[in-house]
Amino acid sequence: MRILGISAYYHDAAAALVVDGEITAAAQEERFTRVKHDAGFPTHAVRFCLDSAGLRPDQLDFVAFYDKPFVKFERLLETYLAFAPQGFQSFRQALPLWIKEKLFQKRLLADQLGAALDPAVNWNGKLLFSEHHLSHAASAFYPSPFEQAAVLTMDGVGEWTTTSLAHGKGNALEVLKEIHFPHSLGLLYSAFTYYTGFKVNSGEYKVMGLAPYGEPRYVDAIREHLIDIKDDGSFRINLDYFDYCTGLRMTNERFHALFGGPPRNPESRLGQKEMDLAASIQVVTEEIVLKLAHSVAHETGERNLCLAGGVALNCVANGKLLRSGAFDRIWIQPAAGDAGGALGAALGAYHMYKGGPRRIASSQRDGMKGGYLGPVYDTATIRQRLSSVGAQFEILEDSEVIDRCARALAAGMAVGWHQGRMEFGPRALGARSILGDARSASMQKLLNLKVKFRESFRPFAPSVLRENLSEWFDLEEDSPYMLLVADVRNEHRIAMTPEQQGLFGIDKLNVARSSIPAVTHVDYSARIQTVHADTNPRYHALIARFRDLTGCPVLVNTSFNVRGEPIVCTPEDSYRCFMGTDIDVLVVGNAYLEKSRQPEHLKTRYEEQFDLD
Ligand SMILES: [Fe+2]
Repeated sequence: MRILGISAYYHDAAAALVVDGEITAAAQEERFTRVKHDAGFPTHAVRFCLDSAGLRPDQLDFVAFYDKPFVKFERLLETYLAFAPQGFQSFRQALPLWIKEKLFQKRLLADQLGAALDPAVNWNGKLLFSEHHLSHAASAFYPSPFEQAAVLTMDGVGEWTTTSLAHGKGNALEVLKEIHFPHSLGLLYSAFTYYTGFKVNSGEYKVMGLAPYGEPRYVDAIREHLIDIKDDGSFRINLDYFDYCTGLRMTNERFHALFGGPPRNPESRLGQKEMDLAASIQVVTEEIVLKLAHSVAHETGERNLCLAGGVALNCVANGKLLRSGAFDRIWIQPAAGDAGGALGAALGAYHMYKGGPRRIASSQRDGMKGGYLGPVYDTATIRQRLSSVGAQFEILEDSEVIDRCARALAAGMAVGWHQGRMEFGPRALGARSILGDARSASMQKLLNLKVKFRESFRPFAPSVLRENLSEWFDLEEDSPYMLLVADVRNEHRIAMTPEQQGLFGIDKLNVARSSIPAVTHVDYSARIQTVHADTNPRYHALIARFRDLTGCPVLVNTSFNVRGEPIVCTPEDSYRCFMGTDIDVLVVGNAYLEKSRQPEHLKTRYEEQFDLD
């Protein structure tokens, strides 16, 4: 049974292939087209999925789409009518598009599958449609290592649902409760993303990163005016403060008056107010997530929880949830956003529609293969493709790749690390990563300003060998997908002097908080990736070698891209990014490249090629 899952036409188009219940390939379209959050039909991703499995298009049994366009249209229509005449302008603009394309999405999908793969196949007969939150829930439960579990999904909005509580058992998945639009935790968080001057649907991460620098002084104002939170975690948004129903803006004048002024201009200086707002919305988000988790634990009686939906990428909230003891174990789908819907739609079709059995053994970590589900390039291909762009490189033995990279890192260099299959999901996990020495006090600034071209407050995440995890962090559980935040252990911390404590906000960034300052936030926390020898042996070997050289089993791991650019996919992408930034060493498979040996004329001013995110 071969099922292709697709998400498209909203944000983060992607494709995933599930063969007899096993996830064999998955990738986001943006990685191929180089357009961040590309939402168009994922032509390249579907071709990659079939090619990687050696399948002909007619060998697919089903193509599962991740949401139901008719139901979404009904939601838009009803919302516009309820808010008429305010929303009429955007309604009038949106309607022709809906009528022309989205209402006929089945035909559109069939046509685009034909164009991408094979026009002779009857695609109409293969198409299935899943509900948006069911796709999220399926992506959370079916690859999890749990025979049965509670499932919680939270995002901006799908068709109507913004939050769902579900119960997974064997191959069955039952939705117990839903919260509907316009009441949405994702949209509330996005409203603060907008108001603090970041891009909605991608800047939420920055708001979370900003939170530790602020004081949660607006929590009462949020609870009093913006959202009514019940004991069971259900909530109602007060729409008097928001404009998202009419599709014009996220927030309105009343919202701005409540927080004392208009939204921040996107590239203007961040102030204490933005940090305090970030800290406040983070507190409210955590409160809701915890209450919802307790409530789904109560409803299902389960001790395991699966999470997905964009809000599940809030790893600070996830860390608190884990420590709260509401559940014994938590598993979070790494592609928690809408790209992961492609995976969920295919897994749902296999288990729920076709009644296929679960395949994940409880001895396995999960069914995601470490998230390494994308394209891979062999040495011959790497050699040919790097040569074709004029790169100067040597091909090394495996052990020498590891040793030379580890030495470069120990010497304080930034290393571009392109190895094996590309990750599925928004985080780089040691397949397409930029790496650095976590012990270096200047690494965070160097990587932010000269490699990634982004705001200096943005913290980096550590990769740590699983076997050394508890020596460095207050965490016992696996966190292979960088989705849990926990504190650096006491013995590695550096206390602030009274003078340093008097500093405000971002000025605190330059104060080293631990012996691994490049990955330690101002509140001693870190967003941790545990590295496992079974899922990524080469990355594991690199960190182990670095540990032998330095005594430290921790590296800085940030995604291999610059601000506004999708993460690199091919050897050429990696070389371009290497040549346009201050990365010192690039390694693509066994090809080793030093910046000082590259032709001068190939160096570019790379950051100008991408819109700021
Ligand atoms: Fe979603």
